[in-house]
Amino acid sequence: MEKKLTDTFGRSHNYLRISLTDNCNFRCFYCMPEEDYDFTPASRLMQAGEIESIARLFVEQGVDKIRLTGGEPLVRKDAGDILLSLSRLPVNLTLTTNGSRIHEYIGLLKEAGIRSLNISLDTLNRDKFLLVTRRDQFFRVYDNIQLLLQEGFHVKVNMVVMKDMNENEINEFVEWTRRQPVHVRFIEFMPFSGNRWTSNKVVTWQEILQEVGTQYDILPLENDPHDTAKKYMVPGHAGTFAVISTMSANFCGSCNRIRLTADGKLKNCLFSQEETDLLNPFRNGEDILPLINASIKAKKKEHGGQFTEDFEKIHAETIHNRSMITIGG
Ligand code: GTP
Ligand code: 5AD
Ligand code: SF4
Repeated sequence: MEKKLTDTFGRSHNYLRISLTDNCNFRCFYCMPEEDYDFTPASRLMQAGEIESIARLFVEQGVDKIRLTGGEPLVRKDAGDILLSLSRLPVNLTLTTNGSRIHEYIGLLKEAGIRSLNISLDTLNRDKFLLVTRRDQFFRVYDNIQLLLQEGFHVKVNMVVMKDMNENEINEFVEWTRRQPVHVRFIEFMPFSGNRWTSNKVVTWQEILQEVGTQYDILPLENDPHDTAKKYMVPGHAGTFAVISTMSANFCGSCNRIRLTADGKLKNCLFSQEETDLLNPFRNGEDILPLINASIKAKKKEHGGQFTEDFEKIHAETIHNRSMITIGG
């Protein structure tokens, strides 16, 4: 049978990331534009029923994994209803969250059958957490990670590594994996509109491994074919670590992801400049499947066609994209 949602490079797309909102209760500088930012009004967001119907259409086309993102997905008032409605679809449902509201949702996450969550946490230091997020909520997030572990969830911790910010904590995060089954992912800092990215703030995959190697033995682990992360562990540790090397060694060749923004635009790549509005045609009763297929056929080979050169040569002002908070990662 011909695979559906296949692009011109033969990549088929079974993983849909849906952003529920571009609102967030944190203010991480690497994710938000520097200037004041107006969140999208509720009327322009996909409503819960619209999300369910559009997701169902993607499932009919072969999507079997859905990740909810934001902004922060759990600040949306009807996030619980959306989680429950999507949990009835035949998909692996999961979410990426800043972790600040997990204690309010733990029962619901279990009810929705969610077993794995990705939590953003860039530092293990309370003062630095405040500096990065502009919110004094380090212990809230850390305690919620402990709660998830106690409840048996698989927890991946996303740490965006930035020079002169948190690179000196790499081995503290690895040390965390000694005692607890957390799966730390070190992420190379990526450029998005207004996020103050410069190439000299990127800490690369190789630099991260080198740093870990100064203190630990490193065992490479097997990766799944569509993984963004290259996985490792320190022998004997309860958890693992990984590196997401978007900037120094992209993994576009095996990409299986498409994204729906909170305002209902399909992005065929994290870095794609072009977007396809699905929400308004859907509201007008149009068949949106041809629009979806056309968007996938237009997917570029790497990085949305925005950068093909070495990352050291990239100037942030030449990258045209939404800010990360409006894409969801
Ligand atoms: P799983 O593999 O499903 O666990 O998710 P993930 O690691 O892809 O998702 P998550 O939301 O935790 O994102 C972690 C980091 O990976 C973020 O910095 C994302 O921007 C980045 N990321 C996620 N998907 C892609 C992708 O398709 N391409 C690139 N280049 N980066 C991605
Ligand atoms: N570079 C790399 N990762 C980023 N994230 C947000 N902004 C960036 C960036 N500029 C990560 C967050 C979150 C995930 C969805 O994307 O840490 O965990
Ligand atoms: Fe896929 Fe684009 Fe990410 Fe490459 S940059 S892996 S093509 S979403």
